[in-house]
Amino acid sequence: MVKETIERNPSAKSNSEIEEIAIDGFDHVELFVGNALQACYYYHKGFGFDVVGFSGLETGNRDKVSYVLKQGSVQLVVSGGLSNKSEIAEHVHEHGDGVKTIGFRVRDAVKCYETAIARGAKSHSKPEFYEGKEGKFIQASVHTYGDTIHKFVQRQEFTGTFAPGFKALDKKSQGGPVGLMSIDHIVGNVELNKMESWVEFYQNIFGFYVYQYFDADDISTKYSSLVSKVMANKSGVIKMPINEPAIGTGKSQIQEYIDYYNAGGVQHIAITTRDIIATIAELKARGVEFLTVPRSYYDALTERVGHIDEDIEELAKLGILVDRESDGYLLQLFTKPVEDRPTLFLEIIQRKGAKGFGKGNFKALFESIEHEQALRGNL
Ligand code: FE2
Repeated sequence: MVKETIERNPSAKSNSEIEEIAIDGFDHVELFVGNALQACYYYHKGFGFDVVGFSGLETGNRDKVSYVLKQGSVQLVVSGGLSNKSEIAEHVHEHGDGVKTIGFRVRDAVKCYETAIARGAKSHSKPEFYEGKEGKFIQASVHTYGDTIHKFVQRQEFTGTFAPGFKALDKKSQGGPVGLMSIDHIVGNVELNKMESWVEFYQNIFGFYVYQYFDADDISTKYSSLVSKVMANKSGVIKMPINEPAIGTGKSQIQEYIDYYNAGGVQHIAITTRDIIATIAELKARGVEFLTVPRSYYDALTERVGHIDEDIEELAKLGILVDRESDGYLLQLFTKPVEDRPTLFLEIIQRKGAKGFGKGNFKALFESIEHEQALRGNL
C-alpha cells in the first residue's frame, strides 16, 4: 500500500536539460510578524538563539524593525512594520505572523535572479548592490507560492552584520544555545490541485528535481489526508517538500492552514540537532510546546525501528518520534504552531543515516495534529 518514489538520480528526470540555479544553501528565513520585539524574545529565550543584528529607526530604517537571530548556521530574521502602510502590516493582516522570505545563499545573485526571470519567475525586487567599507553585498528576489519570496543573497565578500543597514548586537542566549545546527528542509503548503504547478515551477525555474513523493495512501488518517512532493537541488542542501490537501472525511490539516493563512505559504521549518534528547529537554524546560503522541506509540517502537542508540524510555518521556529507513534512522519532533493562527510550526530533527522525512511517523503525527485541530473546532 505504500507507494514511494525516491529519485536518487536526478539525471533520470526529464528536466535534466534545465541547468540548476546554483545555490549553496539556505541563507536565512525572514518572518513578518505583528511585533518583532516580542517575536525576537520568543526565539531568543525559548529556542536559545543569539540576537546578533538589528535594523530600525535607530539605524535609519524608517519603514521596519528587524532582529537577526542566529544559532549554528540558522539565521532567523523577525520583522515588524512601523506604519499601517507597511507591506509587513498588510502581510500580517492577511496571513498572521508567517514566513515572508526563504533566503538562498548564492555566489552570483544577479545571475540567479536573471536566470529565474528569464525562465518565467515573477520579480519581487531587482538586484540591489552595496559596495562600501563592509565589502560587497548583492540581493534580489522572486516570488514563489502565496506571498512568499525567495531571496538570492550574495555575501561572500561582505564583512558586516547580516546585510547593509544592520548594526551588530551581541545578546547571547541565557542558558546558551540548545544545539540547533542548520536548516534541514522547509515545507510549503499550497492550495488543492496546485501542487503540480509548484513542482513544475521548481523544476523549470530552479532546475530542482522530485526527491521523494508521498501520495494519499502514505499520508492519510480517518479524517485528513494530503499529498506531497519533495523538491531538492542536486547537492541536497535545499530540500523543500510541497504539500497540498487531499479530500478525506474531515478537513485536511493543509486546508486548515490555507484557511487561516489565506494563501499558500511555509508550513514548517525543520532544524537539525546532533543530540535531539538534550535539545528537546532544554526546549521544553524553556517553555516551548510540542505535539504529543500517545504512550502506545513507544510500545511497538523497537519492533518497528529495530535497534537504536537512544534509550526508548528517555524518548518516550520527551515524546520524540523515530523512523527507520534503509540507510539508517531519524528522530524528530514538531512544535505546536508558533503564532496565534494554526499555521507555521518548527520541526527538530536528528538524522542518523536516514535521508527521508519520517514517513513511519506520519500516522501518529497526523492523529496528533487532528487532535489539536479538533480542539480548535476545525476538524
Ligand atoms: Fe518536516
